[in-house]
Amino acid sequence: MRVLSGQQIREAFLEFYLAKGHRLLPSASLIPEDPTVLLTIAGMLPFKPIFLGQQQPPALRVTTSQKCVRTNDIENVGRTARHHTFFEMLGNFSFGDYFKKEAIIWAWELTTQVFHIPPERVVVSVFREDDEAYALWRDLIGVTPARIQRLDEKDNFWVSGPTGPCGPCSELYYDFHPELGDQGIDLEDDSRFIEFYNLVFMQYNRDLQGTLTPLQNQNIDTGLGLERMAQILQGVPNNYETDLVFPIIETCAQLADLDYHQSSDEQKRYFKVLGDHLRAVVHLIADGITPSNTGRGYVLRRLIRRAVRYGRLLGITGVFTAEVAQTVITLYQTAYPTVLEKQAWIQQVLRIEEDQFRRTLENGERLLTQILAAKPVQISGADAFRLYDTYGFPVELTAEIAEEQGIGVDEAGFTALLAEQKQRSKEAHQALDLTLPVELEGARTTFTGYHQTEAVGTVVGLLGGANGQDAHFVTVAQTGDNVQIILDQSPFYAESGGQLGDRGLLTSEHARIVIKDVQKKADIFFHEGYVETGSVQVADTLVAQIDLVQRRRVQAHHTATHLLNAALKLVVDPNIAQAGSLVAFDRLRFDFNCPRALTEKEINALEDLVNDWIAQSTPLETQVLPIAEAKAQGAVATFGEKYGAEVRVVDVPGASKELCGGTHVTNTSEIGLFKIISETGTAAGIRRIEAVAGGAVLDYLNLRDRITRQLSTDFKVTVEELPERVNKLQSDLRQLQKELDHTKADLALAQALALADQAILQDAYHLLSQALPPTDPESLKQAAEKLLHKLGEGAVVLGTTTPEGKVTLIVAYSPALVKQGHKAGDLIKALASVGAKGGGRPQLAQAGGIPAEQLATALALALEYLKKALS
Ligand code: SER
Repeated sequence: MRVLSGQQIREAFLEFYLAKGHRLLPSASLIPEDPTVLLTIAGMLPFKPIFLGQQQPPALRVTTSQKCVRTNDIENVGRTARHHTFFEMLGNFSFGDYFKKEAIIWAWELTTQVFHIPPERVVVSVFREDDEAYALWRDLIGVTPARIQRLDEKDNFWVSGPTGPCGPCSELYYDFHPELGDQGIDLEDDSRFIEFYNLVFMQYNRDLQGTLTPLQNQNIDTGLGLERMAQILQGVPNNYETDLVFPIIETCAQLADLDYHQSSDEQKRYFKVLGDHLRAVVHLIADGITPSNTGRGYVLRRLIRRAVRYGRLLGITGVFTAEVAQTVITLYQTAYPTVLEKQAWIQQVLRIEEDQFRRTLENGERLLTQILAAKPVQISGADAFRLYDTYGFPVELTAEIAEEQGIGVDEAGFTALLAEQKQRSKEAHQALDLTLPVELEGARTTFTGYHQTEAVGTVVGLLGGANGQDAHFVTVAQTGDNVQIILDQSPFYAESGGQLGDRGLLTSEHARIVIKDVQKKADIFFHEGYVETGSVQVADTLVAQIDLVQRRRVQAHHTATHLLNAALKLVVDPNIAQAGSLVAFDRLRFDFNCPRALTEKEINALEDLVNDWIAQSTPLETQVLPIAEAKAQGAVATFGEKYGAEVRVVDVPGASKELCGGTHVTNTSEIGLFKIISETGTAAGIRRIEAVAGGAVLDYLNLRDRITRQLSTDFKVTVEELPERVNKLQSDLRQLQKELDHTKADLALAQALALADQAILQDAYHLLSQALPPTDPESLKQAAEKLLHKLGEGAVVLGTTTPEGKVTLIVAYSPALVKQGHKAGDLIKALASVGAKGGGRPQLAQAGGIPAEQLATALALALEYLKKALS
């Protein structure tokens, strides 16, 4: 036997079959085209349609090295010598070309002459009824009958799934202990045997009832486990210590500051899990899978989470999976170049997922430790569900950790609660005014944004059109389109509890989407924005990144709102309660019950108290608690808000404690400064405070600063001299106004006096009715009185129109007229037909209401009236 590297084994196999007339095909993706399976689980999977006669083969003989992932016995990884999630299967295939004989001859030749495995080290198995294969091994190859085992259907009849192509198979095993002889061979004894090559004689199709129908052709499907052959040829005790996995373990050991070979068996197992899982996740991500809560995404998530957890158990501190991924990429870049092409993406996905999970893990572990400390017989379904729902702790992980202490989990109870939750969210969706397509049923966006600013999410729904009426579900959106994107998880906060939705970016390798708002309905987040470049479609994976600057601003305002709420109770009245609130990027608005306006002193005291709390640099504490417990702790709830059975309590120790789902600063010092900008009344008994905090204070100050500087330039004084300057300007203005009034009166008078010769004389009474250029009523009155005085006995009517088009009419009668019983007001009454309204004393009356274009008529009518009245 020669020691061969994994790479040499792969090459030797493929070259061997190339020489036997096979065509070499590249490995298919881990995401199968076959919709009935989640992942590519065997080398034959890409060829299923060919075996079934649904597709033409590219050649009658094919050879591949295929990436595979199986997770059905994930718990065995690291416990046995050979279990993997990811593994490579080397295969030779015949589509109706050669059959059993050639397959057996070549398998033997490859084993003994290429890999130089001594024939006495090989044991073979055949399907119990397959006399033909038995005879071939015994007579053609010369294997002694004792080393040919007939096995039953369970072991030697291979099916690709519940249905599909299948057939009897024959397997080759390596014997680690040939010295134990040929008697009583038990192939299940894996301390002695390892199966390394499976030859499947594909000749049937199995249906759901189990009925076998012969396929059109007799085919060959084989699979040689690369890692197993490497274990054999490299003389190592297990697959994990081969050169296909061990470099990954060594990188982990370095990070853990441990020597693998000196580690305990338990630690070795953790290392093996890490080696296996991290190799798998790199290939899964390279093939386009991203972590999520369903399907393949969940397989990936589970592998990453298990790896993170085992890393922690080995004492690796900090985020490490992306670093280890580098080793995997180096190891596989020649055989599978995609891992190198996708390097940056793989590491980004891992970094984000790990970061998110580590936080989850810390919280969940704390709770789980508490639960386990009580030494229960088993963990209740409710606890398992709480760990899952609130802390994102997968139930498998709960079970695994509990199992380490010999404690079980009520999985049935957990499943029932999960089903209930799904039902609830389905009902919630039915209550929406939006018809959700089937794909969205049960959809839910997991919010990761309390601690994360970026996350990878899968598009589970896409709406085109602008908001509101014309929004409609689409499958793809292009550059320039308005979209609403629904992700399965997101760090974006969706508007609620007064806090506005986050702004930010969604990107993929092909697209960039600007997000302007995020709204939610039930648990579904709608990321609203437009496609800046590229295109996006359902099932795409997007990196969601929130606009951090805006998030910080909104957080400063949110925490400041809590502090203001607490300060109002202390400074103004303990009975004050929130009546409405807006937490925006540029300001906060807080409405509260209070029957009167706040005094300036109170406003200053509020500002001082809040700023004092800010200056104390208090770290915030958030907790998720049953509602009764939260209330018992005195957390302030807002009237009219709906709370679930469990609530989030945001605590600024020593200042405020409120039930709140919003995002907050981690320390009050991040708020920086708090400034009230207005205090007004809205409805009866409701006051409104607007304030700024954090970065918004600077904007507020800058705006005011710009205004004052502009004023100081305009008035040519320093900013400090502005108040004095403005006061002086105001008094100057008042003075000028007075002077102007005088001038106007003088002018009106002069103009009026010039009219004196227009008066007519009737029975010793001077009668005058004339218009004056625009002047004010007071000047007009004085002018009328002066003019009458100049004329002597009689009557004067003066009218004028202000520049705004308002008419004033003054009627002045001399004492003699009044003595005869005439009243100036009567004249005005007589002008009612032209709109005059007014009145006054008998000597002097004033009217308005006359349209400007009727003034001349009114004046003429007035003169007619006087003539008649005095005749
Ligand atoms: N399909 C068979 C297996 O997976 C042989 O490739 O074992």
